[in-house]
Amino acid sequence: MSGIRKTVLAYSGGLDTSIILKWLQDEYNCEVVTFTADIGQREDLRPARERAQMLGVREICVEDLREEFARDFVFPMFRANAVYEGEYMLGTAIARPLIAKYLVETATRTRSDAIAHGATGKGNDQVRFELSAYALNPDIRVIAPWREWDLTSRERLIRYAEHHGIPVEKKEDGSAPYSIDANLLHISHEGGCLEDPWVVPDDAAWGWTVSPMEAPDEPEELLVGFRSGDAVSINGAEMSPASLLLKLNELGSRHGIGRADIVENRYVGMKNRGCYETPGGTIVLKAHRAMESLTLDREVMHLKDEMMPRYAKLVYNGYWYSPERQAMQQMIDASQSHVNGEVRLRLYKGNVDVLGRRSEADSLYDGEIVTFEEDDGAYNQADATGFIRLNALRMRIAASRRR
Ligand code: ARG
Repeated sequence: MSGIRKTVLAYSGGLDTSIILKWLQDEYNCEVVTFTADIGQREDLRPARERAQMLGVREICVEDLREEFARDFVFPMFRANAVYEGEYMLGTAIARPLIAKYLVETATRTRSDAIAHGATGKGNDQVRFELSAYALNPDIRVIAPWREWDLTSRERLIRYAEHHGIPVEKKEDGSAPYSIDANLLHISHEGGCLEDPWVVPDDAAWGWTVSPMEAPDEPEELLVGFRSGDAVSINGAEMSPASLLLKLNELGSRHGIGRADIVENRYVGMKNRGCYETPGGTIVLKAHRAMESLTLDREVMHLKDEMMPRYAKLVYNGYWYSPERQAMQQMIDASQSHVNGEVRLRLYKGNVDVLGRRSEADSLYDGEIVTFEEDDGAYNQADATGFIRLNALRMRIAASRRR
């Protein structure tokens, strides 16, 4: 009836997507191909394969996308210093276009007509998945069970699972579980007691980092090296993008770095409260800005800073594959060719402090000019008189009119 014979499902192996798997087989009467990716969520993916097998799936795809995620999605976004609404480092948003890319590719490879995902009809993720998918394949068809089915409560969902022999792991205390999303860049918690924006998050709302209050009394120093705007080494040791993020997550988590408790504006129009942890990303952002402060021209930097909120909004809203994001990226990437050097940092009780920065070939810092001491003619202070007088001219004219 729907004309859909075969669908690629973004499958985590969890309860919700297992129910979706079964539901697609029954309601659409179609074959389901599962796609599961390791993007650094720190979950064993073997159960996902086993469950898919158990549910009769014949084509099961499991891929390790950690390097691609870090290299082609997180790092380009880092070059922009992207932060949404001043606080959210876009950890979930940046992973969606990658997953969508693989859903579409898997659909082509397995001759499927459609892709399916487990994002609800209330959130940003459905928009990100689908905008990305359509941008990559204009003819792809999308099934979003959450927008169609009548399994509208936790209870109905669990009844459906039990009825169809899908294992349900119950939480002991029966409390509302958090909705968790994790990858190499961040872990997020939403829902449960966080739905009241006044409620203080309990310990279970944080998954990776120690509380800054419980972080070690000993600070830790480290050196981050940059090449063309990308972090490439820690303490002199070169690392791939994924291993670098992994390492910084470990260091940051130990020192309570990168927690954010935020109320944000979702694209669909509602506000939402979440607890996010982005330890490695927080360190890179701080270090990258420090590297840029030494090596970027003032106006280029300010131009980037003006574009940043726009760029962040595009990523947040799901427009990764839009022409405007790609055009901005080209400009941002071009700005980074001189962002080379090293930044010295200190991690301590939730803080990342910059202790120093240096760039052999690309520093625009000129100590001869800026010095408070004798500058031997490097800079003529008398020049500033005319500079200020001409810049003040229009304000003096206006002031004299008003007198
Ligand atoms: N609110 C964040 C965002 O829109 C995080 C979403 C988390 N997603 C999830 N399926 N739990 O990017």
